[in-house]
Amino acid sequence: MAGRIPEDIIMQVRERVDIVDLISGYVQLKHSGANHMGLCPFHNEKTPSFNVNSTRQIFHCFGCGVGGNVFSFLMRMEGIAFPQAVRRLAEQVGIEIPEDEPDDRELQRRKEREQLGQIYEVATDFYHQLLLDDPRAAQARGYIRRRGFDSEAVRRFRLGFAPDGWDVLCQHLKQQNIDPDQAKQLGLIRTGREGRNDYDMFRQRLLFPIDDLFGHVVAFGGRVLDDSLPKYINSPESPLYHKSRILYGLFQAKNEMRRQRKVVVVEGYFDHLALVQAGIENVVATCGTALTADHAKVLKRYVDQVVLLFDQDKAGQQACFRAMPVLLQAGLQVMTLALPEGDDPDSCVRREGAEKFGERLDSAGSAVDYFMVMTLRDAGDSAEAVARAIDAVLVMIRQVPGEIERNLHLATLARCSGVDQAVLQRQLERTTVPARTEAPKPRPSQPLAPVVGYDGSQNRGRAGEQVKEQGGDLKAQRLLLALMFVDACAAEQVKEVGVATVFDDPLCIRLAEQIQDSYSQQRQPGEWLLDNCEDPPLQDLLTQILLSEKELVSDEVEKIFGDCRQAVLRGQLKQRRAELHTQMREAEQQNDSDRQTVCLQELTRINRQLKSR
Ligand code: CTP
Ligand code: MN
Repeated sequence: MAGRIPEDIIMQVRERVDIVDLISGYVQLKHSGANHMGLCPFHNEKTPSFNVNSTRQIFHCFGCGVGGNVFSFLMRMEGIAFPQAVRRLAEQVGIEIPEDEPDDRELQRRKEREQLGQIYEVATDFYHQLLLDDPRAAQARGYIRRRGFDSEAVRRFRLGFAPDGWDVLCQHLKQQNIDPDQAKQLGLIRTGREGRNDYDMFRQRLLFPIDDLFGHVVAFGGRVLDDSLPKYINSPESPLYHKSRILYGLFQAKNEMRRQRKVVVVEGYFDHLALVQAGIENVVATCGTALTADHAKVLKRYVDQVVLLFDQDKAGQQACFRAMPVLLQAGLQVMTLALPEGDDPDSCVRREGAEKFGERLDSAGSAVDYFMVMTLRDAGDSAEAVARAIDAVLVMIRQVPGEIERNLHLATLARCSGVDQAVLQRQLERTTVPARTEAPKPRPSQPLAPVVGYDGSQNRGRAGEQVKEQGGDLKAQRLLLALMFVDACAAEQVKEVGVATVFDDPLCIRLAEQIQDSYSQQRQPGEWLLDNCEDPPLQDLLTQILLSEKELVSDEVEKIFGDCRQAVLRGQLKQRRAELHTQMREAEQQNDSDRQTVCLQELTRINRQLKSR
């Protein structure tokens, strides 16, 4: 692994990258003064509470509490670690990071990846040229034309043709001095049996190059030109290609996805091509694999809404219902529409034309409602059968992000099934999501969205800690932290009186300690901690404080300290009161009236103290 990135480089990168530019690539921002507001990409919301402050170069969501600087944004957004985030941004702004001698294995690995990528580039080009003008591809060109596609589509998606013959690609790669073992790793060629020559994986097939997120080809899907089987063969998984993460067409679609905050997901390559040719640019294809949580995570970077547009047959419907929980759990809104029986998007758009099909697409409705209607319709008439169907629907509703949405679905379910909504509500609260599809999601009752960990996972415990509210008590503690950020003396003073006398919130205590550490290392804690604190809830609190920081005047200092001390005492009293309540209950159960009296006396005293404060 590469070593630590020098601090001054980190600083340079931070200074060169503009946070508003960076975040605008992911979130639509509207600005008012130094502040830019938008819909938070880290939780589901309808009204913007996501704030980007260009003066301070930080972001903070007042809805879910996450925040940070350019680095933390990229870390959360892309699920990458700090050094990766710095490297990525450094590259964008043209700052070179001195490598302190990556070890040989790392160098070897990088070189290999580069070579592997190059091989697909060579193969894609070779097959694409063939399709464009080689006599051997005449039949393939005819096939594409008959299916209604023009050469613009062929060029744009770099479609290719692998002609008949056993070693057409093998020979070409040989001419280019490409290592056959590497081409084998990628599944482009295979070792011949019993000492025979290597042979091509794709023969007499139309090829769809599959890009990774950066637009590099990493796999092919290859279709026969007739009815023979298998209809498609696809490149195997390789060091470059992980199909659980890759969606066909994403690289080309992502700008439009971002613009519309919406994507159409289809099953097949041809469906994808047909929609794009009809002017629908925000479309990706799953290519026959089930939609995974990784796919959903990738989509969530660009969109809020997914329209599932699968083949109108049993298999398509099943694929749709299986994809729904995965997408819902990623916080996406899921829509769908039924095509005419037996259609797939390709056949439908070809028959109806772009305009009519566009209208159809606009009429997509909630996938959850569709699932509800289909499930109830297919259930038997007996009460037991209906109950089972309702259970299945409730499992789906349970996964819908947003309490209001869940409630509306319940109302629909009550209407469709004739079961009282209160009964459904109770049942919903008992409903658990089967482990197979359960992603680490916030409980719906949790007031704030979870913090997404730097590894992309969600971290309930620490998020819980962050959202803990203690009436007005936290306010004083946060004010004191704000003071510590701007005033080293205040930090010193906190050290003298002891952190525990002025803070009782665990997160505030951690932050206070980190501020003190920063000062003792001669650093300005605000900037330093934003770059160096690898503790997401702490960063969230940090940005919240930095953004809410008002002008603090010095004669307030004593008052703030006083408030904090009071808050801590009050917290201690409340905790003691809770203990006493428990003891009272125990004493009551044991008929221990002496102990009850003692407890009661202390309780009265505590209540009086609490009231007088
Ligand atoms: N698929 C696959 N292997 C198969 C069949 C299908 O990988 N043996 C994937 C392909 O990505 C295909 C998608 O599943 O595009 C959808 O399959 P299907 O609907 O059968 O194919 P279409 O793309 O609709 O192809 P066509 O319209 O030419 O029949
Ligand atoms: Mn089809």
